[in-house]
Amino acid sequence: MQDRKNGRAAALPVAKELRCFCTSAGVDVGASAYLCNMEQLLQQIEEYKKEIAAFEAADDKQVEEFRIRFLGTKGLVKAVMGEMKQVPADQKKAFGQILNDFKLFAESRYESLREQTAATQGPAGSRIDLSLPGDPAPLGSRHPITLMRNRIVSIFQRLGFAVAEGPEIEDDWHNFGALNLPPHHPARDMQDTFYIQQNPDWVLRTHTSSVQIREMEKGKLPIRMLMPGRVYRNETVSARSHCFFHQVEGLYIDENVSFADLKQTLYFFVKEMYGKDVKVRFRPSYFPFTEPSAEMDVSCFICGGEGCNICKKTGWVEILGCGMVHPNVLQNCNIDPNKYTGFAFGMGIERPALLKYDVNDLRLFSENDVRFLKQFTSAI
Ligand code: PHE
Repeated sequence: MQDRKNGRAAALPVAKELRCFCTSAGVDVGASAYLCNMEQLLQQIEEYKKEIAAFEAADDKQVEEFRIRFLGTKGLVKAVMGEMKQVPADQKKAFGQILNDFKLFAESRYESLREQTAATQGPAGSRIDLSLPGDPAPLGSRHPITLMRNRIVSIFQRLGFAVAEGPEIEDDWHNFGALNLPPHHPARDMQDTFYIQQNPDWVLRTHTSSVQIREMEKGKLPIRMLMPGRVYRNETVSARSHCFFHQVEGLYIDENVSFADLKQTLYFFVKEMYGKDVKVRFRPSYFPFTEPSAEMDVSCFICGGEGCNICKKTGWVEILGCGMVHPNVLQNCNIDPNKYTGFAFGMGIERPALLKYDVNDLRLFSENDVRFLKQFTSAI
């Protein structure tokens, strides 16, 4: 208590253990204090070291007791360090080394006590239990549209088709003009278009056929490309139609490509997609960028052709539009129509996905409802 009067000593509750060295602090500890010398300091350090080495801790609490006694702001290591100023100048270097070693000794003992208790104390006391299983990473799933697109793409890849993509904001030329749909062409009405207000020359592409033009413009022939992507049309959103959906476009241009190649390629595709028993039929159609043009139906893969709700009792389901690339389109892309011919086709992804996964509302594909999406976790 008397130490309290002297501010400095009171800050060191352990100072009485260092009574030999308290002279410099001006604390009245009696004449014996003056007998202190460096040997005594060394001896004291040795005793502390023995105590440190012998210290055992059974739990965190005892480790903390060790820390307070030796390494705390009012601990013994600090107190011993404080004695440095008494050391004569010529011995300061040697003593500094000794005191520093002492400090490191206490610190390393503290670390090993901590490690020991962490390892032996069991789950209640330790901060981490390395034997516990980790948190399972939640398994995501691919979107059903992605699954269907990947299936379509992989079938055509086996026939040597490469994959290309194009911009979703297109200019009028790529979306319409180059595809033989000049301004005011009535066939533009078939694709109710979103125009960009600031620049009416820009549209949200209405089909992936625009990517055909971009591929042909590159001037590298032959072309055997598959072009999947999102397209936009100004349609009322309902269970059966949406203002955006997905298509896969196909384009094959080389010398001597004929309608027979088109039929054979698409027949291979549907057999891979829907099974070897599927039948196909081509119906004449009209697209400004193909001539002749056709629409391809497959025998209904739900009822096998007998007639059901899906095929509206006809036994057939329409899956794509196709045709031989119009010579005007080739010319627009600087390809000589006398030398090269080619076929193109375009199919939607949503419709086959609806049928395959038995989904009855198109809107589910874009609502991001996890309850819907997680049902595809194991679908391939
Ligand atoms: N682009 C057409 C559509 O969206 C489909 C199509 C592509 C037709 C290629 C013929 C050739 O309806």
